[in-house]
Amino acid sequence: MFALAARELGYRILIYSPENDTPAGQIGDEEFCCAYDDLEQIRAFARRVEVVTFEFENVPSLSTTAAAEFAPVRPDGRVLHITQNRLREKTFLEGNGFPVTPFRRIVTLPELEAAARELGLPAVLKTADFGYDGKGQTKLTDPAQLAADWQALRGAEGIYEAFVSFEKEISVVGARTMRGEFAAFPVFENSHANHILDVTFAPAAIPPALARQAVELTEGILRKLDVVGLLTVEMFVTTDGRILVNELAPRTHNSGHLTIDGCVTSQFEQQVRAVCGLPLGATELRQPAAAMANLLGHLWNEREPNWAAALAEARVKLHLYGKGQPRVGRKMGHLTTTGSSAEECVARVLSARARL
Ligand SMILES: Nc1ncnc2c1ncn2[C@@H]1O[C@H](COP(=O)(O)OP(=O)(O)O)[C@@H](O)[C@H]1O
Ligand SMILES: [Mg+2]
Repeated sequence: MFALAARELGYRILIYSPENDTPAGQIGDEEFCCAYDDLEQIRAFARRVEVVTFEFENVPSLSTTAAAEFAPVRPDGRVLHITQNRLREKTFLEGNGFPVTPFRRIVTLPELEAAARELGLPAVLKTADFGYDGKGQTKLTDPAQLAADWQALRGAEGIYEAFVSFEKEISVVGARTMRGEFAAFPVFENSHANHILDVTFAPAAIPPALARQAVELTEGILRKLDVVGLLTVEMFVTTDGRILVNELAPRTHNSGHLTIDGCVTSQFEQQVRAVCGLPLGATELRQPAAAMANLLGHLWNEREPNWAAALAEARVKLHLYGKGQPRVGRKMGHLTTTGSSAEECVARVLSARARL
């Protein structure tokens, strides 16, 4: 989706990925199929381009340093380094006054026991590195089970987070240019199924003051990190009406996919503009509301889904990514729609998905 947006603006696109025939590779001019830690190939790649960006945060920060010898990396390796580890990320946020749930670093079982005493249960134990879609996470509820829960870390560094009693989850996708110009999309409201984003709609059903606060927090985070490019802030709205930052993603975000059909500028075009030194595009919704429903691999279930049935409602738009294997839980595409209210839009994408 990034490559499509870059193509529309007339850019040539080189893709670097450890896999072949990737969704981006199908759109780009050339695919470098090499490991993310192959510094010589990274350098060869960076010599060929004018700017490097990424849509996946688990690229080793040493690789971004190697790329930066030849081309600017946006956002830069420092932003990547902080946001790819949950402990560094929450320590950065807390240290700069951004609200987060209380947390502790966990390596040993005594550290886990101490955290449970100090911060209480329930809690969520997460691996500090490499988690996504709820992978590497355990909910802790029973003090007698802590030893077994600790085993789930398998010796890796973990983070203990006090469980947040939240009313809803929201996200803000923000963009920032080299000159410090900032723009945010409308606040998205997200619901998850099995820890994977399921449905997003905009604007979020929250009071305007809370929406302003969510955007201000996002702007503050992008400024503090000196981001050039895009960064998404996932947040909780707690049952007592506060906003807590859950996590950061230094890139476009699944919740922002509704911007393709829903906003004047898509999050992908915005990333292209921000990293290529162009002014940012307008972020407002083209219609009063928009919604997106994810399409996961289980929908294939031995046969191709019935796309025509989903598209029988003319206001529904289909986006498929061109991924090879439709595995259970894998994000394969999404449906979007726009309309006069969020309820209407959510109902329309859900009924379209049900017809698949
Ligand atoms: N401390 C927490 N309290 C309550 N729910 C949580 C907490 N941390 C995560 N969750 C739930 O798990 C989901 C996934 O966690 P997250 O930290 O966003 O990891 P990732 O999206 O990388 O898998 C969140 O969107 C939220 O629904
Ligand atoms: Mg998340």
